[in-house]
Amino acid sequence: MHPDEIEEILFTPEVIQAKVEELAQEVSCDYTGKELHLVAVLKGALVFLADFCRALSIQVTVDFMVVSSYVAAHSSGEVRILKDLDFGIKGRHVLIVEDIIDNGITLDYLMKTLSLREPASLKICTLLDKPERRLVDIKPHYNGFVVPNKFVVGYGLDFNEKYRNFPYVAILKKEAYENL
Ligand code: IMP
Ligand code: MG
Repeated sequence: MHPDEIEEILFTPEVIQAKVEELAQEVSCDYTGKELHLVAVLKGALVFLADFCRALSIQVTVDFMVVSSYVAAHSSGEVRILKDLDFGIKGRHVLIVEDIIDNGITLDYLMKTLSLREPASLKICTLLDKPERRLVDIKPHYNGFVVPNKFVVGYGLDFNEKYRNFPYVAILKKEAYENL
């Protein structure tokens, strides 16, 4: 059962879990023998991070960032850091953990900003990718699912702070956000 605001469930908890384990295996393999530092972008990545880090078979450290991005008309977007990392990343292997890449502006900004801090490596792992909406050329190194050009919620993703606790990823009905 799911609420009326949901149009369609895209990925069930079981399907998500299998994909998270697949991603975690790939990452564990790629970073074997290295110390991996996960940088999660709050709040959307919180549920994915919790499952993903527990599925890894290598030791990791975790830090968080909070950013806000908005795209104004005739601009390529603006990103602000609301909470920066607690730890330095110079010389470290950093993997950014994100919920979704939409227009790509947030991750493009994070890649540029964090590379200036001279990490040993810097890559992106996202659960969802919505490539149709891209405004800048950015591709995730690890991606769970490609999603259609629809607004999705659940498994950490919100609309107006709601739906983050849904265990599945679903398409939100247009009425749910047009009624506001
Ligand atoms: P980007 O800068 O457009 O790539 O924005 C990425 C951020 O926008 C994500 O981390 C999400 O927090 C949010 N976002 C983009 N698309 C969706 C969606 O379909 N549902 C919920 N949040 C989204
Ligand atoms: Mg986010």
